[in-house]
Amino acid sequence: MKKLFVANWKMNKTREEVLRFRERFATLVGSVEGAEIVLAPSFPFFIELADSSGRWSIAGQNCSSEKDGALTGEVSAAMLASCGCRYVILGHSERRRDFAESGAVLGRKVDRARESGLVPIFCVGETLDDRREGRTREVLARQLEELGGDPAGRPLVVAYEPVWAIGTGQIATPEQAEESIAEIRRRLAGRSEIRVLYGGSAGPGNASALLRRPGIDGFLVGGASLDPESFLAICRS
Ligand code: PGA
Repeated sequence: MKKLFVANWKMNKTREEVLRFRERFATLVGSVEGAEIVLAPSFPFFIELADSSGRWSIAGQNCSSEKDGALTGEVSAAMLASCGCRYVILGHSERRRDFAESGAVLGRKVDRARESGLVPIFCVGETLDDRREGRTREVLARQLEELGGDPAGRPLVVAYEPVWAIGTGQIATPEQAEESIAEIRRRLAGRSEIRVLYGGSAGPGNASALLRRPGIDGFLVGGASLDPESFLAICRS
């Protein structure tokens, strides 16, 4: 299976910057083989960023837990799908922490994503306190339980993102990443089609060391994905 590289732009880039990225990215991307590339911009830019020739696909960074209705400011999974999204990132630690997204809400978001044919990129990961106090496995187990109602036969992407590594420049060691990813795989052993990504300060300088470890199917990249050259350097690693 191809390695998967997902650019999580978070709340960055205006329309002008998105168009500039797109132009540069389109001229450079041609030579990446063996990689599936996904770009997750902010909601207004799906149409601008979609690639009709299929060199990359697009993803939402979030979706509503509800189908539709009187929910000012929300964006539904069906809307994402209708704009051409293939994936949706769910359960990112910034959503869990800053928007108080609970396991119950995340379970409903996964259901909405499935109803619309989107593949969830489901994020899990421990905080520094969790790790120091030896709770990493327990935290991963609890977060993966939020996927409990999701049918096992569907393709699923799980991103292991230690919270202490996100945006800090302090990447997990290959051993730490491998250990947690093995735990995730063990917990989801009944699933037929699962890919597990690493996320948290991944960059051109450290991606290949991690990719050499067993069990890592690619990356969810924040900061280093904002620049076309640096994101493509990761995709080529
Ligand atoms: P980072 O973010 O690569 O900037 O650490 C990763 C993420 O939050 O998905």
